[in-house]
Amino acid sequence: MSTAAAPSPVGKNAAPILEEARNRRTFAIISHPDAGKTTLTEKLLLYGGAIREAGSIKQRKAARHAASDWMAIEQERGISVTSSVLRFEKDGIKYNLLDTPGHKDFSEDTLRTLVAADCALMVIDSAKGVEEQTEKLFEVCRMRGIPVITFVNKYDRPGMDPLEVLSNIESKLGIHPVAAAWPLGYGTDFQGVYDVIGRKLHLYIKASHGAREADTEIFDLEEGVANAQLSESVKEAFMEECELIRDEFHEMDPDEYNTGKATPVFFGSALSNFGLDIFLEHFRNLAPQPQRYTDNTEQLRSLDEPFSGFVFKLQANMNPEHRDCTAFVRVATGKFERGIEVKVDDLSKKIRMTSPHTLMADDRSLLEVAYPGDIVALFNPGEFKIGSTVYKGEKKKYDVIPLFTPEHFIKASSKDPFRRKQLREGLQQLSEEGVVHVFEVPNGVGNELLLGTVGVLQFEVVQHRMLAEYKVEMHYTPVPYHTARWLPENEEIISKLKTAFSTHVTFDLDENPIALFDSAYALSQAIEKVGEENLFKFKR
Ligand code: G4P
Repeated sequence: MSTAAAPSPVGKNAAPILEEARNRRTFAIISHPDAGKTTLTEKLLLYGGAIREAGSIKQRKAARHAASDWMAIEQERGISVTSSVLRFEKDGIKYNLLDTPGHKDFSEDTLRTLVAADCALMVIDSAKGVEEQTEKLFEVCRMRGIPVITFVNKYDRPGMDPLEVLSNIESKLGIHPVAAAWPLGYGTDFQGVYDVIGRKLHLYIKASHGAREADTEIFDLEEGVANAQLSESVKEAFMEECELIRDEFHEMDPDEYNTGKATPVFFGSALSNFGLDIFLEHFRNLAPQPQRYTDNTEQLRSLDEPFSGFVFKLQANMNPEHRDCTAFVRVATGKFERGIEVKVDDLSKKIRMTSPHTLMADDRSLLEVAYPGDIVALFNPGEFKIGSTVYKGEKKKYDVIPLFTPEHFIKASSKDPFRRKQLREGLQQLSEEGVVHVFEVPNGVGNELLLGTVGVLQFEVVQHRMLAEYKVEMHYTPVPYHTARWLPENEEIISKLKTAFSTHVTFDLDENPIALFDSAYALSQAIEKVGEENLFKFKR
């Protein structure tokens, strides 16, 4: 194994690999349902040139139930998007937008997807400010220290004033918001956006539902304000605010931005396309190029090393006729080519990647090559687990996917007492796939197991798959746990918590210790007893 100081094994393809990597931006949108993620995604495609006209996706959304938003866009527009990654290209930059399902689909998968992204685009509804799901997703960004770029949406509707939005972001998330754009008027008076970075005021002309790019006139600040159809008092207030924020972005500490401690904030309306031109122009430069990952020998790997990547998501086909499984791999280094032979984790056998595809929808287009930052969807021959490293050449291992703390718990047993063995086997398999956490029931007797998930829908998925794949009909019993924290493998801390107030210590099937608390008060007592630094929300 080479040392950190040794030169990376640069092959003859190194230069093209670095060149390709430089032109990629891999990001995920973090938002609360209804903030406008779907609308903004569609508009990114419109401004990115992937579609010529954006349509209202309203009726379809109502009709499609649990289907992915992007699948709906795909059906409507006939373009290639997927439930997991959407690719578009603008001005020579290839964007990989990773899906972070929300609503009922919110699960640990959503959180894990953020581990495969190099930055996050946080979309906030201007009337509602930072909401619950955004907070949860933001915590993962904070844990990873990745850049977060904010788009405050729906400025064409009455909402908070922009200064209020900034203080809302700061107080809810503890991140320093830095104005990168500023809205001129709001609600029905929303007429333009000041580009703080480029120091120009864009005035927009409304198009019906923003089906096409907005007609825009670009002015110097004073001239633009003079041209706006707004009252003098509104103009004056706007000029004062601009005076206040005009240097903020330019004075932002790049380190604060790169480590996710400061976020540039854009304002606009995804529906009417106001502010999108400014946002996209600067997003290209703000979104980082593919990051370099550190492997579990603490070596920072070079992007131009032979191919390696990690599995961040496994998607089983729920159709019993096609019980296949797809593994989503984030390319960390090198060039992936169709037909290459790869190794997985510690297994010695090589697996030939004959049919990698970029898409999950009905139309699976085959992928010939992929570079750092790209996502490859591979048929899972059974060897891939969540967090698996896939590599060519010298062995590599990335430990990048943490255990996320489950938020919902339920006790599970088999209705048929003779299928206890299958119950355990099936749940073990599903936990390896990252579908559910499985624990011994604290002080449990009999053959029950405790299940923990991030989203409640996962319990239904488990029930369905256990019946279909293991012929186990599950029986669920509610449990009263309020919250949980992973624990270090430290006997002293574990035994202290075993006797703590309303606290139950147990282990998952891989022997990871966890504490379950009956109430928020019990958690606060535990924090006093062993310190917050020993109660993990994320565990590597
Ligand atoms: P999501 O994917 O984050 O859940 O949000 P989505 O884009 O579907 O948008 C949610 C609703 O907000 C949609 O209304 C959409 O048209 C609207 N919306 C999105 N961006 C803007 C904006 O910039 N301005 C305004 N005024 N509205 C916006 P909807 O389809 O009518 O749904 P609903 O409100 O009936 O639920």
